[in-house]
Amino acid sequence: MGKTVALLVAAGSGSRLGGEPKQYRRLGWQSVLAHALDGLRHPRIDETHVVIAPGQEAAFRDATGNRTLPSPIIGGATRQNSVRNGLEALAATGDAIDAVLVHDAARPFLPAAVIDRLLSALETHAGAVPVLPVSDTLARGSDLLGDAISRDELHRVQTPQAFRFAPLLAAHRAWNGPAKATDDAQIARAAGLDIVLVTGDKSLDKITYDEDFRDAERLLAGSMTSRTGLGFDVHAFGAGDHLWLGGVRIDHERGLMGHSDADVALHALADALLGTMGAGDIGDHFPPSDPQWRGAASSRFLEHARDLLDQRGGKIDHVDLTIICEAPRIGPHRAAMRSTIASLLRLPETRVSIKATTTERLGFTGRGEGIAAQAVATVRLGNDD
Ligand code: CTP
Ligand code: MG
Repeated sequence: MGKTVALLVAAGSGSRLGGEPKQYRRLGWQSVLAHALDGLRHPRIDETHVVIAPGQEAAFRDATGNRTLPSPIIGGATRQNSVRNGLEALAATGDAIDAVLVHDAARPFLPAAVIDRLLSALETHAGAVPVLPVSDTLARGSDLLGDAISRDELHRVQTPQAFRFAPLLAAHRAWNGPAKATDDAQIARAAGLDIVLVTGDKSLDKITYDEDFRDAERLLAGSMTSRTGLGFDVHAFGAGDHLWLGGVRIDHERGLMGHSDADVALHALADALLGTMGAGDIGDHFPPSDPQWRGAASSRFLEHARDLLDQRGGKIDHVDLTIICEAPRIGPHRAAMRSTIASLLRLPETRVSIKATTTERLGFTGRGEGIAAQAVATVRLGNDD
């Protein structure tokens, strides 16, 4: 039995959306193209080949990260040309290919159930296409009440479209219309292939206009889950005339000892953020044994944790910090700490909470031997992380 292969067309320029081609834009933690590739990861799909525009090899590499993929195929001036180039390149591999799913890279979300339906339908038909009913009233011309169009026989046609490989390749080769068929079902049908409709999915909608991109962002945000991370740190007092706390320099009769600037509050916060990602603690990221972090501003640690979360498409909902000491008094510095931390984390101040407490002269903080800090961070992250 031959392979089932996916052909992901990503050679368009995204002119209706504008800016960089939409398949290379970042949607949450990865590119639109990477989302589409993830959607095609399915036990019944053996491999995926991507068709890109000439000169886009670097964008393709950036967008696909560390995935191992066959070398991209170079597409053509229209979607149809790109699919044709892809099919010819697949044929040229000489591999036995039974089925091909042709899919748009501009459709980042693909439920596995749609692939299941397509491949089951392909057992008894030459092609299968996912469609959705048209629900809005459709009208022609400017007089909306005048010329309504019956919806009964209309469908919204999506991709992936699944075909037996050899007949689809033959249909593309035989096509003698203009090179602007917008999908492969049109070409297959023109060649007389038996195409069946299966139920598509709303999440498969194509990103075409700006509004579609925002819809995709909303859909992705809706699928994110909430995570909570906890951080705790202690630093001992030592000689000095000031200390750093919550990113703010405070004059004090003693300093805090530590390898970096010993900002116990920012350390607890950075650890809380790392905790939301299961990314270890600041000691892992900035080993105290490494001389480059001697005297380092702890704001760098917090920014590092923020950037890690950002790379994963995460969003910080809220951070809450408690500083535990008898002295210095935190009240006078609380507003400065709040605004410093908010700007380090690029959050509105309403999402940053700073509290302080003493331990009623009990324990090491009560005896004035050091300062402790606790932090909680609440973030949202994509389900794959
Ligand atoms: N496509 C392609 N080769 C082309 C044109 C389009 O591979 N010459 C791909 C696109 O990358 C996209 C899919 O076909 O994944 C659907 O096309 P469309 O939504 O029209 O994307 P673009 O052509 O990029 O956008 P626009 O038409 O707005 O320029
Ligand atoms: Mg186009």
